[in-house]
Amino acid sequence: MQDLWNGKFSREGYLYGKAPNSYLASHIDGLPASSSILFLGEGEGRNACYAALHGHSVLALDASDIGLNKAQQLATDMDVDIKTLHIDLAHWEAEVHYDAVMASFLHLKEPLRTLAFGKAISALKPSGVFVAEFFSIKQLPLQSGGPKDPELLYTVDSLQNIFDRSDIEILRLEEVVDLLHEGRGHQGDAELIRIVVRKR
Ligand SMILES: C[S@@+](CC[C@H](N)C(=O)[O-])C[C@H]1O[C@@H](n2cnc3c(N)ncnc32)[C@H](O)[C@@H]1O
Repeated sequence: MQDLWNGKFSREGYLYGKAPNSYLASHIDGLPASSSILFLGEGEGRNACYAALHGHSVLALDASDIGLNKAQQLATDMDVDIKTLHIDLAHWEAEVHYDAVMASFLHLKEPLRTLAFGKAISALKPSGVFVAEFFSIKQLPLQSGGPKDPELLYTVDSLQNIFDRSDIEILRLEEVVDLLHEGRGHQGDAELIRIVVRKR
């Protein structure tokens, strides 16, 4: 995992650009001032830096040290502070609780998928929110981004099963087609799944 993403992030520039993912940004904008946010699989740091710029306290976790080094460089360029944690989600346990946990295009195979999202929910404070955007399995034939291994892609049903827990409430779980304009990695109409969950 680390080698794959280190290879992608070794190229010049920011693979998904420096601007945040629009869906995550819209939820970051709605958080109370000075919220604590954990970003899972945050790569080169575009969402984390946006959140920090808006006054939030941010931890960006990723398995790619090259991605996180670029995230810190972006933070320096934007004159904001972010914390980073270089770890594979398979080995991670949250040490503190957050107002929000967010992820854009974090594509994991089972059983790590269920394990990691379970840990994400455990990392939320009461009333904390988990917000994520992923590629749907319907993205497979499209060239606008995302993995080409069907086991890495998501369905609404698979997420419904993972998040069907008594300690959380699913506020939104939807499949949409939207235009991505994110660096050289995500360009064009894409089949997306968006989820928002609140801890009880
Ligand atoms: C498609 S990139 C998205 C990066 C970032 N969220 C964004 O949208 O710009 C997927 C990211 O997930 C990270 N990732 C994948 N599997 C992981 C794992 N098991 N543990 C930690 N990070 C992982 C990769 O290193 C990569 O940075």
